[in-house]
Amino acid sequence: MSNYQKINQQYKGKDIISLQQFDTSSISQLFETTKHIITQLNTNTIVPYLQNKLATLLFFEPSSRTISSFSASIKRLGGVTIEYQNPLETSSAVKGETFEDSIKVFETYSDIIIIRHFENGSALRASNVADIPVVNAGDGYGEHPTQALLDMYTIHQRFNTLENLTGLIAGDLLYGRTVHSLLRGLSFYKGNTIYLLSPKRLMLPEKDVKEYTKLGLKLIQIHDEEDIPKNCQFWYWTRVQKERFAIQEEYEKIKHSFIITPNLLKNQGNKNMIILHPLPRVGEIDPRIDSDPRAWYLSKQMKNGMYIRMALLSLITGAL
Ligand code: CP
Repeated sequence: MSNYQKINQQYKGKDIISLQQFDTSSISQLFETTKHIITQLNTNTIVPYLQNKLATLLFFEPSSRTISSFSASIKRLGGVTIEYQNPLETSSAVKGETFEDSIKVFETYSDIIIIRHFENGSALRASNVADIPVVNAGDGYGEHPTQALLDMYTIHQRFNTLENLTGLIAGDLLYGRTVHSLLRGLSFYKGNTIYLLSPKRLMLPEKDVKEYTKLGLKLIQIHDEEDIPKNCQFWYWTRVQKERFAIQEEYEKIKHSFIITPNLLKNQGNKNMIILHPLPRVGEIDPRIDSDPRAWYLSKQMKNGMYIRMALLSLITGAL
């Protein structure tokens, strides 16, 4: 299968590896399908677009949201799953089976493979082996395309557009794979300005800044919470990715560089904004923020994960 295939509004049979495969029309199509699924879920528990289909979930890295929302999506679409968490300890990889051979095994029994892995490029590697669609559920510090799609859907849900927005992305911009996919997604739409707040050690790599800027994003790098402009429509906060640090003391020093507190929200926020976080959070959002109606990370954003994945799977399998 050709793996970095553009979607071009034809999802059927395609791998989902990177936001690079998308364009605004394909994203609109996905959003419309998501709305259709949500409407159907108002009156049905199961929307059987994946009936008689089996998906394998292969998670080489820990996950709460992504694995459970994919699992729920497949089951709510009437499909079934093989679910492997930590295959390096529980599959024949323990006996020395190669990654490629493992993928061939799961391909044999499945209609689709959904993979999370600690190495950048691993989903692409899997898709080079498998002749069934492979979905990237997060590869190292590379990309997390389905997270970005649900993030964009959530922003669109609030502002009814993905153009001419001013937003803030904060935290670990070096290792945060959700950030990389989201920035690429936002770059498809005109007029977006994104403030990037990070410790110097975790800045967005210069090559990415250049690339996204070339694609049309206006990126403004800041290193102090006081420099957050009051007019941001969304704050997208992220955790510092502990698992990417070779030296844990380094992580400890910068893990709480930026924390959303009631004071910060009062001083730098505004009443119309929303607060997003891909989660998990590990101290970078004060729990007192959770009850604020602008805090969408534990509610709408997380819920949209299942809806967007249901829509994506229905499109990839050709049911819709
Ligand atoms: N957002 C996200 O990827 O969360 P999990 O690591 O819990 O799947």
